[in-house]
Amino acid sequence: MATVTFTSPIMHGPKSVYAVAGDTKTILVLAEENHIPIPFDCRDGNCASCLIEVTYAEPSVKKGITLTEKEKLKLKELGKLTAQDIEDAEVRDLPPPYRLACQFIARDEDVTVSFSGAPGGA
Ligand code: FES
Repeated sequence: MATVTFTSPIMHGPKSVYAVAGDTKTILVLAEENHIPIPFDCRDGNCASCLIEVTYAEPSVKKGITLTEKEKLKLKELGKLTAQDIEDAEVRDLPPPYRLACQFIARDEDVTVSFSGAPGGA
């Protein structure tokens, strides 16, 4: 089971929720189910409204990183994903700092998700 802690200046304080192991809900769906107001629009990796910053409880532990081509392209456009980030994710299984909440599925790692509350403004 993963603990996902959401934090934002528009929230009264951090809120931790549990993602069931094996679940395939995105962070955006998990946020909605728990009344956490991450901005969104397309739900499909196109608009970047749901940009989030992700920090890992154990950053040195290797993860199976799945970045879709669509997510990579959008994050690169925004200047939130470097060539080094992509290499780290695909070659070394080290997670990038920014993700799209509608594309990111928390597996069994504990993460903190930060967002500003403004669309695309992680
Ligand atoms: Fe549009 Fe996530 S809601 S990219």
